[in-house]
Formats: sequence, C-alpha cells, structure tokens
Amino acid sequence: MNATPRSAGLPAASHLLDVYPYLPFRPESAEGVYLHGEGRRIIDFYGGHAVAGLGYAHPDIVRALETQGRRLFFQSNAVALEVREEAARRLAAFAPAGLGHVFFGNSGAEANENALRLACRVTGRGRILAIEHGFHGRTAAAAAVTWSAVGKWYGFPRTPFDVGFIPRNDIAAAGRLIDDTVAGVILEPVQGQAGAFDLDPAFVQAVAAACEQAGALLIADEIQSGMGRCGAPFAIELAGVTPDMLTVAKALGAGFPCSALLVTDRIAAGLKPGDLGTTFGGGPLASALMSTVIEVIGRDRLIDNVRALSQEIIEAMPLGPVEAVQGKGFLLGLRCRRPAREMLQELLKRGILVGTSADPQVMRLLPPLVLERHHVHELLNALADIR
Ligand SMILES: Cc1ncc(COP(=O)(O)O)c(C=O)c1O
Repeated sequence: MNATPRSAGLPAASHLLDVYPYLPFRPESAEGVYLHGEGRRIIDFYGGHAVAGLGYAHPDIVRALETQGRRLFFQSNAVALEVREEAARRLAAFAPAGLGHVFFGNSGAEANENALRLACRVTGRGRILAIEHGFHGRTAAAAAVTWSAVGKWYGFPRTPFDVGFIPRNDIAAAGRLIDDTVAGVILEPVQGQAGAFDLDPAFVQAVAAACEQAGALLIADEIQSGMGRCGAPFAIELAGVTPDMLTVAKALGAGFPCSALLVTDRIAAGLKPGDLGTTFGGGPLASALMSTVIEVIGRDRLIDNVRALSQEIIEAMPLGPVEAVQGKGFLLGLRCRRPAREMLQELLKRGILVGTSADPQVMRLLPPLVLERHHVHELLNALADIR
C-alpha cells in the first residue's frame, strides 16, 4: 500500500484513493435532518453537499424507491418509459416557463458538459464565458469554466474551447466581453462553492440582455442552487431572468445520482436522435425519485419553509463570530471573524455540522429543506456560544 501519510479520517490500509479531505465526523445512519454516528446525534446543516434536500430516510422517498425497484429496476434510453416521461413533465412544470425540454444525466458535471456542448453547436461559435469564482465541475468542459481550475483544468492539458471570465457583478465588463464570438455564458445565480455568493440581480439581468443582443446562450448552473434551495424553484427566477439552458443535479434525486439539462424550444428543435446520450441517465429509479422530490416540495410547501427559516437566520446576524451573511434561502454563507475550518470544529462540538467554502472566512449552510424552526434556534444558540 501507499507509504505516504494519509488524509485525516482515511484508514492507513484503505483501498480508496486519497483524493478527499474528509469532514471530521463519520455518520453511520441518518433520519430527518439528523446524522447518527460516533455515539452522537448531529444536526446536518451541510446536507451532504446540498444533496439531501428532503433530509434522510424520507418516507415518500423510501417508498418510491421500493415501489419502483420492485416494478422496474432499470432500463436504458433504448426504450421509452412512462416513469421517465412523468419525471420530465414534472420537472418542466417546476422550472421557469420556456424550458420545456429535458435531457437526463447522472451528475452535475455531465449536465454542464452537455449544456456547453450545445452552446457551441447551436451558435457555431467556440468561446464560452463564465463568472470569476464560479464552480461548474471536474470533467473537461466543466473544468474549463471553473475559476479555481484556471491553468490546471483538473489535469487536462488544455480547454476544449476558448474561455474567458467576467468579474462578479461587473456590468460594464459583461457588456464589453459578451460579443458575437461568444457561444454562451454560464453562471451560478448563487455561487455555492465560492461561499454562497449571490450575484446581483441587476448583473444577471445585464448578462442575459447582453447574451440576447450578441446571440450567445445563457446557461444557468443550478446544480447546487436549484430545487427550491434558494427560496424559489430555481434561483435565477429571483432575478426575473429565464436562461436558454438550465442544469440541475444534487437535490434533484434526494441522494440518488441524477441530473438534468433543460432547454428552450429553439435549442430542442435543432436536435435529433443520437446528438446526446447516456446509459444510466433518466433510469426508472432516478425518474421515480425526481418525480417524488418535486411532488413533496410542492405538497409540503417546502419553499415557504425555506424562505421563512432563512429569514430568521439572516435577521439574527451578526451573531457570535459571524459578521455578515450572504446567499439566498438555504444556501447561505456566514462570514466569520474566525476561519471557517475552526467554526466547523466549534459547531461540531455543539452538535451541528456545517460546510466550509473556497473563501476561508465563509462557512456554508445548505441544510435539508425539511429543517424546522427549533433546529434554527439550536444553530443560533450554538453561534452565540462561540467566542
Ligand atoms: C454549481 C455546481 N456545478 C456543478 C457541480 C458539479 O456537480 P457534480 O459533482 O455532480 O459533477 C457542482 C458540485 O458541487 C456545483 O456545485
């Protein structure tokens, strides 16, 4: 085995590649918003990277998984499936009007990969713009537009297309850079990895207008910010903008790996069988779970819950070591006097798991949408207790 030191949390004899820095807690099971492990019960304000939108062991999700598993466990896109049709119908109805065509994939990066491919193909252009500090994934095209990967591209020798970056909220730069050489602009309305940095709605509107004028396509990466997390079905709706393409993953399947790319009529009209493809995307289990997630978000009015509880958190700031808050809904960044890594440890001692971010002073909250008021109060009490 490897003789070099292993990352904290990875056993010396592990056969796993040592590529992840682990959080300092090992869960063994989970229910609702609680993680159980190491003899403790922890409130999960991290939500497994924003994936556990409905928390854990949600009865509707467990039932859907079992029912669909018994009925039809898998079939590929070689056959038409009603369960897949239903998921696409529900997702198109949940998304902003105008994005009525769905391609299912397996991961966020795959959805972005296809969106970027279509932007180049539909416009016949070879230049993509992204926003500084954005994160879009680790595959070739997604890595090319990821700010932290500039010059490294997660090990690829070059980018598959020309790439440029627009400084955040710089409307003048957007106007200057988005010209008729640009195939598309990709942005996260709330930049998750960057510390839940919410782009100014006026900037998002200006980017959309410049794209329209230049004939470039606007891609909203809602992989982290979507599925109700930001207090609307999709965060870009809060800016009053409808993109040409939208990508979503993470909470879409409540933890079952899946993603989707949604596009307009115009983009869909240019596609024919064979233009895109995947083996697992839109499989029956993923489809049943996506439909259930959308149904539960609506039935249980979870977006109202996100808005109300998020407001309570925002209004309680500044508090303890927290100096300021950014983000939307349940994608919040708390800017702290102390490093986010220390905040994570302090909160974990008090029974709460949070995330860090690319900004060392910003800790991230991405709890399940089923969070309750008393959990928020436990968080606020814990923050008030930290010096
Ligand atoms: C905004 C955004 N885009 C893309 C991705 C990549 O998704 P995946 O890890 O499923 O490939 C992520 C993952 O963190 C993300 O937050």
